[in-house]
Formats: sequence, C-alpha cells, structure tokens
Amino acid sequence: MEERINDIVAECTAGIDAAVSVKELTDCKVKFLGKNGALTGILRNLKELNEQQRPLAGKLVNEARSLLETRFDARFRFLKEEELNRKLQAEKIDITITPHIREVGSLHPLNAVRRKIESFFISMGFSVYDGPEIETDYYNFEALNIPADHPAREMQDSFFITKNILLRSQTSAGQIRTMEKVKPPIKMISPGRTYRSDDLDATHSPMFHQIEGLVVDKGITMCDLKGILEMFAQHFFGQGTKIRFRPSYFPFTEPSVEVDVTCHNCHGAGCRICKGTGWIEVLGAGMVNRKVLEGCGIDPDEYTGFAFGMGLDRIAIIMSGLDFKAIFENDIRFLKQFK
Ligand code: PHE
Repeated sequence: MEERINDIVAECTAGIDAAVSVKELTDCKVKFLGKNGALTGILRNLKELNEQQRPLAGKLVNEARSLLETRFDARFRFLKEEELNRKLQAEKIDITITPHIREVGSLHPLNAVRRKIESFFISMGFSVYDGPEIETDYYNFEALNIPADHPAREMQDSFFITKNILLRSQTSAGQIRTMEKVKPPIKMISPGRTYRSDDLDATHSPMFHQIEGLVVDKGITMCDLKGILEMFAQHFFGQGTKIRFRPSYFPFTEPSVEVDVTCHNCHGAGCRICKGTGWIEVLGAGMVNRKVLEGCGIDPDEYTGFAFGMGLDRIAIIMSGLDFKAIFENDIRFLKQFK
C-alpha cells in the first residue's frame, strides 16, 4: 500500500514538473487528485483493508494529498507568473519609436473662399439656402423676368435637358424659390454650382460656382446694398478696399450694377492682375425688379429689395493667382500649397 502511494506521489510530482502551462497542470491535478484520480482511488479501496491497516493507509493518503497539493500550488503560482510575464513582454510598448505622422488635409481654395464669404454674411444675419442644380425654365429664366424670346437668354448659353428643364445657369433661381416660400423680411445667401455651355480654359468652365444674395424688406434702398458690399469687401479683401458701382443690365434687377473692388494686389495703382486698371470686377447686383417681386406675391409698393450674385471661382482665382483648370484638376501637389 505504502509503496503504491509512493509511486503515485513520484509519478504525480514528475507530472507537476513536466507541466508547462496552467492547462497541463490542471489536467495533471485532475488525473491524480480528482474525483476519479489515482490517489482518490486508493481511498475508495480502503474498505478492503483490515481494521489495523485502514487508519494508517488513510493517514498516508492524506499526507500524500497535502504534500502534492502544496507542490501543485507552488507550480501553479510559478506557471501563472510565467504566463503573465510572457503576456507583458508581448504587449510591451516601445515609447521611443517615432510615431507615424498623420497627414492633415486642407480646404480646397474654393471651399476656403466660400466659407469665408458665408461666415461674413451669417455674421450680418443672413440665412444660407440651398437650391436644386437641375432647374425648370420658370425659376431659371421666366420668373426672373427673362421670357422665352428675351435676348438676355443668349448671355447665358445653357444646358437644357428637356425643353423645360435645364442645369441652372445662375443661382438667381434661388431668389424666386426663397421668395415663394419665405415672406419678408428676407436676408439670405445661396451658394452653389452653376452651368453654362463653355469649354474649359483659363477663364471659363462649363461648371462654376456662384453665391447669390437677396434682401427684401420695407424701405430697402441702394444705400443698403452699397453699405453691405462695402463691409464685405473690407472683410474679405482687407481694410481699405474700396468698391465702385458701374451701371449695368440684368432683367431681374432695376437699376442694375456691376461692382468692382480695388485690386488687392496693387491697391488701385494698376498691376498685371487688374490689367493696369486698379479695379477688379467681382459681382453683379441691383434692386429687385418690381415684376419679380410681384410674380412671387410680394407687393412692390410695400417692399423693396436688393440682390447680388458673385462668381466664387473668379474670386478664388483672383486671390490665388491660379486659373480655372488648376482649380478643378484637384492635383494634390497644387492643393497642398493652400494649407
Ligand atoms: N445672376 C447674375 C449672373 O449670373 C448675377 C446677378 C445676381 C445680378 C443677382 C444681379 C443680381 O450674371
């Protein structure tokens, strides 16, 4: 009996020493000390021994069990610590390694210009409206006092999809959509894409961007238009920028003007950018035509308003010294300059 117990202790100790993982050690413990384990098996057979042998055998089995348990515990502690160390080693972070520098993008010059213009008008209490790029003839022309046979249609060679539907040739279509929905006082800007049948070259593009502005209220005059554009010019092109109005013609405004600002490069002295004139044309504007107000259900004897439209691309081009092609090609080497 004693011999058998000693064999089990020796065998189990060898198993303990050979186990290299917690899992192997657990299996080994089950094999020797578990419910159906080798040592437990001896206890079960105690009844076959006689009265004298039984207590001695029981004592030996218990001693063997507690000895083995101590060995198991020690080995468990050792293996657990080893596993932890292995894990720590594998997850070690080397804080001295140079990190990957993340490249931070930048706004496209067109978006930068649009945001700067928007933030000025928002600060002056304007709302920003969006309008569809696919328009009906009514919003793009008819309601803007440009009937079918009007020669002004030829000023804008448009992309018609059907007889009645076209890619909008001007954001002015948004004036009508706004006035139909919102009753005065109205103070809005509406930026977006516009389309005209031009080939892409340094100064033209079949797709370009405009920002429309519209203010309608009681007692609005040309002075209000001039005032807000003067403030805009100073905010956008810098302190000291002057503006001038030149008489012009748009069917939907009366009177109409074209607005120039002093060249931001030479401040009016004349240079290559302003072609020696000292001035740069930036937008078209005027007082909203009575007929247009009437068509939108606004009484022109009670309300007056002004509208303006500027070419975003033109302004981005003037500010960056680039051309239409560069602006739309999206060459990353070009865009990187504008961080
Ligand atoms: N829509 C005109 C254009 O594209 C610009 C404009 C807008 C003029 C609003 C007057 C008032 O040329």
